[in-house]
Amino acid sequence: MSSLPEIFSPDGPLAQAIGGYRVREQQVEMAERIAAAINSQSVFIAEAGTGTGKTFAYLVPALKSGGKVIVSTGTKTLQDQLFNKDLPMVRDALKAPVKIAFLKGRANYVCPYHLQNALAEGRFLTREDAADARRISNFAKVTQSGDKAEVHRGFGNFASVEPRHFNARKLPRPGLPELQGMLRHAGPARGDGG
Ligand SMILES: Nc1ncnc2c1ncn2[C@@H]1O[C@H](COP(=O)(O)OP(=O)(O)O)[C@@H](O)[C@H]1O
Ligand SMILES: [Mg+2]
Repeated sequence: MSSLPEIFSPDGPLAQAIGGYRVREQQVEMAERIAAAINSQSVFIAEAGTGTGKTFAYLVPALKSGGKVIVSTGTKTLQDQLFNKDLPMVRDALKAPVKIAFLKGRANYVCPYHLQNALAEGRFLTREDAADARRISNFAKVTQSGDKAEVHRGFGNFASVEPRHFNARKLPRPGLPELQGMLRHAGPARGDGG
């Protein structure tokens, strides 16, 4: 793969992917420093204002590194932007053969251990809590991500459930007609690919 100065050059892959691209010396320098920190497994701290181009400065060396990289953001909004826009853009521009995954803090995921405990204990303050526990339990059986946002997004409302949230091969569970209905809504199982 090309060197960092080549990637950030006026006729490099970033320039072709970004409208109005200009070489920014500090951006290239930050990318070089980050690459050096990754290579030497050391710490590098950089600070610069919003919109100055930090995202590309760290994504490029991260995607070039060939190892596992965790990018941690301060907000979910930033995370969404990174995952849905910047990351695919830089990956495609660099033609980097990397797999990317989206991970939230662990409080965002259903915990099988606590769920099991709650169900086994079976004592709920309200009827709604009991119903929610059943709903979450059903959700936990079919979800691929375990992300609780998918429950809020309407696990009970099957019409709004998108196929990608479910692994059709794990469905249906006989005796759960709701899931059968959901499976029909989700359409045919997709290929084995990831
Ligand atoms: N070298 C550059 N030339 C032109 N536009 C750029 C350059 N680097 C980044 N951008 C654009 O500037 C905007 C902000 O970049 P971004 O990396 O998100 O900034 P930061 O992470 O520092 O807030 C984005 O729209 C991005 O496409
Ligand atoms: Mg940024």
